[in-house]
Amino acid sequence: MDDHDVLHEIVAHAERFLDGLPERPVGSTATVDELWTALNGPLPMEGLDDRTVVTDLMKSAESGLVATAGPRFFGFVIGGSTPASLAADWLTTLWDQNAGLVAAGPAAAVVEEIAGEWLKELLALPKDASFAMVTGCQMANFVGMLAARHQVLTDHGWNVEADGLQGSPTIAVVAGEERHATMDRALRFAGLGAPKVLVPADDQGRMRADALRDAVAGIDGPMIVCAQAGNVNTGAFDPLDEICDITHARGGWVHVDAAFGLWAAVSPRLMHLLKGHDKADSWATDAHKWLNVPYDSGLVFCAHPKTHRASTGISASYLLKSAAREEMEYTPESSRRARAFPIYAAVRALGRAGIVEMVERCCDLALRFADQLSAQPDVDVLNDVVLNQVLVRFGDDDERTRRVIDNVQRDGTCWLGGSTWKGQAVMRISLSNWSTTAEDVDRSVEAIIRAARAVGG
Ligand SMILES: Cc1ncc(COP(=O)(O)O)c(C=O)c1O
Repeated sequence: MDDHDVLHEIVAHAERFLDGLPERPVGSTATVDELWTALNGPLPMEGLDDRTVVTDLMKSAESGLVATAGPRFFGFVIGGSTPASLAADWLTTLWDQNAGLVAAGPAAAVVEEIAGEWLKELLALPKDASFAMVTGCQMANFVGMLAARHQVLTDHGWNVEADGLQGSPTIAVVAGEERHATMDRALRFAGLGAPKVLVPADDQGRMRADALRDAVAGIDGPMIVCAQAGNVNTGAFDPLDEICDITHARGGWVHVDAAFGLWAAVSPRLMHLLKGHDKADSWATDAHKWLNVPYDSGLVFCAHPKTHRASTGISASYLLKSAAREEMEYTPESSRRARAFPIYAAVRALGRAGIVEMVERCCDLALRFADQLSAQPDVDVLNDVVLNQVLVRFGDDDERTRRVIDNVQRDGTCWLGGSTWKGQAVMRISLSNWSTTAEDVDRSVEAIIRAARAVGG
């Protein structure tokens, strides 16, 4: 047995796993207790051979895997992994580059810069914006808040990096009432607390521009407005054009949380949803959602590179800085995984045309779900399906809706989750997987109808 045996084992497993992905039960078939029994044991005192360790892990974890990478997983907003991005992710692990500094991995640094330029072009963001690749949109929102607080406090004579927040001018933090939970957490991490000004939203969850105008009328000091493109339930977009105008007229900073919504920018058909997005100051999104690269892959962009770097930069005597872009200057991380390789591979393999097709297909399939389900008696689609999100309610009844979701999850044909929308229980369907087809949607609709019939009326 040679040292690489375990790697051959993994390649064979990968082929079996990927071939079986479209047909395996989508949800986990093991309970958490069963997984504990299969995987737990005392701390090993002596090591085992690599092959045994890895084959045991594959066997014991198997029934506890969720086919999130497969074509009929519609929960949360979770993309899969395109073949090229998966392969490049393996290379990332194999090469084990530290993508914090050019000196520790020049290829990773160059690929990151190239991928960043491509992404700005794809997402119709300002050419000279800075960017960073972080773990996910949560951290992208956090970086956006670091840059925002730096700028609005600098504008009011305060150096937050040197003096912290104690004694600083108060920052008015404004957000829509339907913002994502990670926005609140990003604000917390940045020491800004919960948003004190909550702007009412309309029936689709969009921040109301008229309400924002009223809400900020009396604010003269530092201000950050957190807008959203792509509500996690409805997929709706805040009116970014007006939000940017209103906020900038008062000297504030606009951050856009657009974990999946920013990808609408690639499509001439959907671009109108983002009208004015390029006027914002920072944007957060994910590559691991709609670009379909493996976890963990979030993206943050900033219209003001100096501000961005001032808020996240670092220096130490042993860090050899080159004249090139040092990745760690733009993230809260120091040592980091070379996340750019899978992104670079995904963009090259799909091309702009492939990305447009993937995003538009997901939106078409969301409409297909909505049309077929709303044609059923006692089934209502509650949102305007403008993007990839569908909210479904059964018999106008919370209990019934929850039981249908439960039955669908147990059936295993597809997986989707629940949520609460305007105080009502809903089934939430998200389409963001590169491999989902119309046939997958039709099969899933049949499974949902079956599950609803089993619950009864
Ligand atoms: C609007 C929005 N923002 C932020 C996030 C958080 O993204 P992540 O889990 O990748 O950090 C999500 C996740 O679904 C989201 O929908």
